[in-house]
Amino acid sequence: MSTPKTPPKAVDDDNVVHGVVAEFTDVSSLLAACERVRDAGYTKADAFAPFPVHGIDKALGIKPTVLPWIALAAGGIGTCTALAMQIWMNGIDYQYIISGKPFISLPASIPVAFELTILFASFATFFGMWALNGLPRFSNPIFTSPRFDRATDDTFFLFLDAKDNRFDEAGAKSFLADLGGDFIEVVKEDDSPKSIPKFLLIGLALLISFSLIPALLVARMRVTKSTSPRIHIFPDMDFSPAKDMQQTSTLFADGRAMRPDVPGTVHRGEMIWDLDFQTGIELEKLAQTDAPRVRRLVAMVQSDVEVGGDEQAADAADAGEETSSEPAEEASSDGESDEDANPTALTPAAGPEVDTTPWLSENPLPLTDAVLRRGQTMFGVYCSTCHGMNGNGDGLVNRRAQRILATTWTPPSNLHDETLFEDAYPDGKLFSTISNGIRKMPGYRAQIGAEDRWAIVAYVRALQASQDATLEDVPEAQRATIEKEQTDVKAALEKAAAEAEAKAKESST
Ligand code: HEC
Repeated sequence: MSTPKTPPKAVDDDNVVHGVVAEFTDVSSLLAACERVRDAGYTKADAFAPFPVHGIDKALGIKPTVLPWIALAAGGIGTCTALAMQIWMNGIDYQYIISGKPFISLPASIPVAFELTILFASFATFFGMWALNGLPRFSNPIFTSPRFDRATDDTFFLFLDAKDNRFDEAGAKSFLADLGGDFIEVVKEDDSPKSIPKFLLIGLALLISFSLIPALLVARMRVTKSTSPRIHIFPDMDFSPAKDMQQTSTLFADGRAMRPDVPGTVHRGEMIWDLDFQTGIELEKLAQTDAPRVRRLVAMVQSDVEVGGDEQAADAADAGEETSSEPAEEASSDGESDEDANPTALTPAAGPEVDTTPWLSENPLPLTDAVLRRGQTMFGVYCSTCHGMNGNGDGLVNRRAQRILATTWTPPSNLHDETLFEDAYPDGKLFSTISNGIRKMPGYRAQIGAEDRWAIVAYVRALQASQDATLEDVPEAQRATIEKEQTDVKAALEKAAAEAEAKAKESST
């Protein structure tokens, strides 16, 4: 019993009889009684129990509900509504080409049709259940029976409705007594009003009218003018008071509204304008042999500095001339055009080529500990994925690529190849390779600042040197530690070898 209980009203004896109710003490006697009520031909009877009793509807002869059919019908109406709606909107009233698909297309309509099917079916189920049960209902005469409260607690009730054709008060009473019911009681219609209480209706009306207020306000504002500023629910920084350049402020000790730059700030337009530093090439020397290339390089640097590395700008400044500053894309797999794509770059494509570019032979950065550490960090971030932490070309990207692209993959170069050493491959050229990429390797000009690129150059040199360094290259203070490590490692290796040998012998015997 989920219907809310109202306190029993005084029952007027003149009231019409609503029915007769009897109590039963256990489920089996209730079920047996139900069956006999059904067999006696009663159709308007009801049983009440504190918990669901299986088979009781059958015992009472209650027919299965028609609710599923209502739900099915509503679902079907939902499907048809959705299809009709979409066919009208998308196929007839407002045709709109989407990916060249037909205007009337079933697959595209399925999601909406599905949604409306569910929506209609669930509403029909919900409100259909209400209608079939005669809800909403604020009171039921049977609540006037003082004992009936126990239906939700520990007792079972059987009710014979006066509306049944076979019903007569005395007959029903004796029949229930016959069935073993206790406390047989006649239930009279109660006096409680059948309609919805007034205060509820008024409350509902008020609620609805209040909910219209915001909409009305908005509607009014659309047709009237106002001089007051618009309402800002979230002002955020819309009204932050900004100071102009020469104004004063009491906020800062120096009284100026405008803050001076943090010492060391480099404005975007004021980046290191040393063109050699930005290109890795002695441009003055290059200008004597290849002036157009210098022009292109300058345009490239300019675009880097001004718009943060927009290659298009460089190309635009270079209108008409073929060579682009982006080599990676030109690198084709036919191998022949490798030299064309070499940005070493920006060399006009021509035959098997001797590199005559006057590369900077020395790193313009001072080789301090800080620079090397910075280079190490940036190498770890940008290069090690392909070239490996120690530069031998076996980074994680390479390892995976070997597995999945084995035939088409160009492995990253081993940076310890002699052709990449300083005498064969000047610092400036290495800088240019990092900046512009080479053949299959992309350039990192856009990601890594010029200073960091030079730091990487310095670190690559250190890496190369580290591969065949002798103890004499190490600062004296650290030699002892390294020697100790070496002897430790040697001892460990010898021990392992001896163990392996012993094992081998053991297994052979
Ligand atoms: C996406 C992978 C990848 C990354 C990251 C990468 N490289 Fe490479 N690098 C390559 C490949 C591949 C080659 C070989 C290109 C070819 O032969 O087509 C190469 C070649 C090189 C070469 C040899 C150039 C030559 O002229 O033969 C150098 C030097 C080099 N890389 C340095 C670096 C440095 C320094 C970094 C970090 C800024 C770096 N690479 C980052 C893939 C990469």
